Amino acid sequence: MKAMNVGLLGIGTVGGGTYAVLERNQSEIARRAGCPIRISVVADKDLDRAARVTGGKVRVVDDAFAVVSDPEVDIVVELIGGTTIARELMLAAIAQGKHVVTANKALLAHHGNEIFAAAYRAGVMVAFEGAVAGGVPIIKALREGLTANRIEWIAGIINGTSNYILSEMRSKRVSFATALGDAQRLGYAEADPTFDIEGIDASHKLTIMAAIAFGIPMQVDKVYTEGIARLSPEDIRYAEELGYRIKLLGITRRTPVGLELRVHPTLVPSTRLIANVEGVMNAILVQADAVGRTLYYGAGAGAEPTASAVVADLVDVTRMHSASRKHQVPYLAFQPDQLSDIPILPMEEVQTSYYLRIRAYDRPGVLADVTRILADRQISIEAMVQREPSEGEDQVDVIMRTNRTIEKNMVAALDGIEALASIVGKVIRIRLEEL
Ligand code: HSE
Repeated sequence: MKAMNVGLLGIGTVGGGTYAVLERNQSEIARRAGCPIRISVVADKDLDRAARVTGGKVRVVDDAFAVVSDPEVDIVVELIGGTTIARELMLAAIAQGKHVVTANKALLAHHGNEIFAAAYRAGVMVAFEGAVAGGVPIIKALREGLTANRIEWIAGIINGTSNYILSEMRSKRVSFATALGDAQRLGYAEADPTFDIEGIDASHKLTIMAAIAFGIPMQVDKVYTEGIARLSPEDIRYAEELGYRIKLLGITRRTPVGLELRVHPTLVPSTRLIANVEGVMNAILVQADAVGRTLYYGAGAGAEPTASAVVADLVDVTRMHSASRKHQVPYLAFQPDQLSDIPILPMEEVQTSYYLRIRAYDRPGVLADVTRILADRQISIEAMVQREPSEGEDQVDVIMRTNRTIEKNMVAALDGIEALASIVGKVIRIRLEEL
């Protein structure tokens, strides 16, 4: 039985995990795939590391372009990361007629349309289960498992680093900076954590899920993105008192006027399963018309969890590689000529509920002024807590949960509230979803 030959580009954390899983489970994988899948060549700039990980059993080179043009290689696995060299390598592999597997969400979110078009013309597969939520098979679920459904919305915890920080801030009552420091010490957060804490990594993953769920092209530039760096332990505590937890969610929703595409901290009722996903774990909740709600949970990063997804892609490609293009599973679930141009709503048109924390002087009539401004814009207060001023203080925190309203309505109301002489500073505003 001829083996499928894999050229592995990058043998860092995920590449090393992929090598280990393929080696450890090779006989089961071959029984599932119909033939052995073997890594025949590895490209890595660090030749010593590559030799160490592979135990000298595999050819190692430092030129990734030599691998994509190697006639012996059937499938190229791109685990280099980034969006420049990785893009060139993917396009070069496709031009050589190779199938490609990647876990690179930034690459697909930014250049997926170009990569899928090139792959379609070349008749090759592009598989990317590891790009979203690591080992959680959410791409497979959205693209194949839920294919009977009209998907209505998706809400996901799709960045483990942020979820770890928020979990620590809540359970240990520490500041954002302290929790981030712990995440860095434990190796969950990078030295430069911007991508994770500012919601950028989540926006890449959301872009990919929305494309598959709704049959739209990748549109990462249209994702509203707000991270967790400005959240305070007070808001996490007040949210808890109201019965909510704050999670960084990626949300995409079909509405009659367009699609929502947004990443931001969100209050979620603490009774929901997804609100109880803690630490670095990921979870994605999908609402679809036939099946209802389904929840996918698991490790969103790490060597072997992500390798689990990469190897699953290798098995898929191995099973299907001889199928004609029209019998292969479409990259984005919908046939490439059936993608739609549903408009993406700007954030100011999105409808949601809000948590507000208003710092006010403790004087008669302040709340009346605030509630009048909200009422003038048809914003209704669903719950409210006012803290007693501390000894010697003349300011209080007023916490409110509102009904659903359009974002631009809330922005205008907050402008009016912040202009009141009795209000101190900016109003803290966090979006809230009952899910
Ligand atoms: N940095 C990501 C996270 C994992 O924290 O979830 C890789 O996408």
